[in-house]
Amino acid sequence: SRILLLQGPNLNLLGTREPHIYGSTTLADIEQTLGPIAKAAGHELEQLQSNAEHILIDRIHAARDDDTCFILINPGAFTHTSVAIRDALAGVAIPFIEVHISNVHAREPFRQHSYLSDIAQGVICGLGVQGYELALQAAITQVNA
Ligand code: DQA
Repeated sequence: SRILLLQGPNLNLLGTREPHIYGSTTLADIEQTLGPIAKAAGHELEQLQSNAEHILIDRIHAARDDDTCFILINPGAFTHTSVAIRDALAGVAIPFIEVHISNVHAREPFRQHSYLSDIAQGVICGLGVQGYELALQAAITQVNA
């Protein structure tokens, strides 16, 4: 089945954006690392990045009907603002893990609240882009259980 990797606003800049915080890995690099791991476990990884809240929401809705068994999401700044993304994830009832590259708890106070964390299977933050790989491993363990 499908594992959906959703990347929120500004993450298209990953690799060049504030590299002291987010590192030099790009979204294409992440897809290249994670794709084969998902495949080896019998799943298909699909990555979508959008700067638009409604595109992320529409993709979450579509996941209900396209064999998506798990969602990995780095909602970017929508983490701290979006009741709508929370409602979409709750609405489709597909298990998800919230990923942040940086340690949001060590940054500005406004990054310390997430609208998603309490309904997530788990949250990974502060481990850099390795967090995506760790989240994928956890997703595979849960889905294949
Ligand atoms: C982020 C943390 C958010 O606070 C920020 O708005 C991002 C990236 C992270 O991966 O560390 O865009 O989600």
